[in-house]
Amino acid sequence: MDYAKNLINKALAARKLAYTPYSNFKVGAALLTSDDNIFEGFNIECASYPVCNCAERTALFRAVFEGFKKFKAIAVVGGKSEELGCLNSYCPPCGMCRQALREFCVPEEFEIILAKSSEDFKIYTLEELLPQSFGPHYL
Ligand code: THU
Repeated sequence: MDYAKNLINKALAARKLAYTPYSNFKVGAALLTSDDNIFEGFNIECASYPVCNCAERTALFRAVFEGFKKFKAIAVVGGKSEELGCLNSYCPPCGMCRQALREFCVPEEFEIILAKSSEDFKIYTLEELLPQSFGPHYL
């Protein structure tokens, strides 16, 4: 909870760098590892639209590549590029990102922080956003 504002500010900064020539919808994410490292990500779009990568998975895959595989929380911010200073709505992670995050967390404990600003945010657990999920323990 104390880390929420810091994560949100990092997600907001990452969002400014998003590569979104096709949708102009810019998303930033900041992922907190279990030992308090932070990895930021933004969405990256491609002319072949389905190849786009969401901000959350950019952050996650950067972290996993660096050897981190346990996470406590992620902050996500997103909106049309015109919404620079002030976001009008929360940006919940897509289903694919929820499932990717689920691989590396305890669903009842992992916090998803949806923010419009560092003053305006709400927190869900992954279990709330992806109930009864399929995970590594099935295999
Ligand atoms: N997007 C994300 O980065 N995260 C989400 O969870 C939802 C969608 C991106 C993908 C695409 O670049 C743009 O937002 C519009 O869908």
